[in-house]
Order: sequence, then structure tokens, then C-alpha cells
Amino acid sequence: MRYLELATDLDTRALGARLALLLRRGDVVALRGNLGAGKTTLARGLIQALLSVEEEVPSPTYTLVQMYDGPDFPLWHFDLYRLEDPEELQELGWDETQAGAALIEWPDRAGRHLPAQRLDVFLENSGDGRRARLEPQGEGWQERLDERFG
Ligand SMILES: Nc1ncnc2c1ncn2[C@@H]1O[C@H](COP(=O)(O)OP(=O)(O)O)[C@@H](O)[C@H]1O
Ligand SMILES: [Mg+2]
Repeated sequence: MRYLELATDLDTRALGARLALLLRRGDVVALRGNLGAGKTTLARGLIQALLSVEEEVPSPTYTLVQMYDGPDFPLWHFDLYRLEDPEELQELGWDETQAGAALIEWPDRAGRHLPAQRLDVFLENSGDGRRARLEPQGEGWQERLDERFG
């Protein structure tokens, strides 16, 4: 378990950019924390680092999902806060996301559809800033984190 202090929103974006370097097809990153914890900020940093062009990254608060064409695989950014039933995920193209990577805000809303193998990123307040904790779930992530964050 590792804690990272994020003094400003630039640090939150930078953590996203660091995670972009180790993201692979099939990955699921669950962004956890209260409203305002910095989940979308981190996702924005990750997505903009992955895409070569300066693309606008809107919060999927209302659309629930946004898709981006990454250089090697597509990337989906979910905000499931407004999802009422996990079974609605099928209509959002949930199954297709295995062809790429998925960043998921409010991941518990996915219920049984949330994969057991994933990276959990917990965000919480720390003074005026935030603190992040990276928690690998299942195989694979620990080694990759050790390489880049060790
Ligand atoms: N490390 C940080 N320190 C201070 N403010 C931050 C930090 N990271 C993000 N923020 C700010 O917190 C606010 C909420 O961020 P947001 O990413 O929308 O949260 P969430 O998606 O978790 O609801 C934004 O104004 C953002 O700039
Ligand atoms: Mg958000």
C-alpha cells in the first residue's frame, strides 16, 4: 500500500500522467473517493497524457461514459454516480471496454460487473490538497507499480 501526497490539482493530474505510462489494453482503474476528491482531475491527467493531441476531457457526469482513441487502444472514462442499476452498463457498451482500458469513477455502482483484477486508486482530502493510495487488486498490477512507483 502506498500513499502519495498531492498538494495541488497539478499533482493529481501528474499522477494520472504517471499511470498513463503503465496502462495497457484490458486494464481497469477504479477511481475512488468522495465528490470533489479529484477523480475526474486524475482521469483528465491520464487521458491527456495518453492522447497526443490536446483533447478536451469533459466529466462524464451526465453522459456516464466518454470514449477516447488512444495510440494503442481505446480508452473509456466512466462516471457511474448516476447509474441506477448495474445491468444498465450493457447499454453503455461495457463489454466492449475489454478491447481497451477503462477508468471508472464510482466503480461500486458497477456491482458484479466490476472486474476483480484492477487498480484501485483511493483519493481523500489532506489539508488543502489530496492524498492518493494505490491498491492493486488481483494479479499483475503490483509488479508494474513496483517498477514505476517503487
Ligand atoms: N491535489 C489537489 N489539491 C487541491 N485541489 C485539487 C486536487 N486535485 C483536484 N483538486 C480540485 O478538486 C476539485 C474537484 O475535483 P474533481 O476531479 O472534479 O473531483 P471528483 O471527480 O472526485 O468529484 C477540482 O476543483 C480540482 O481542481
Ligand atoms: Mg468526477
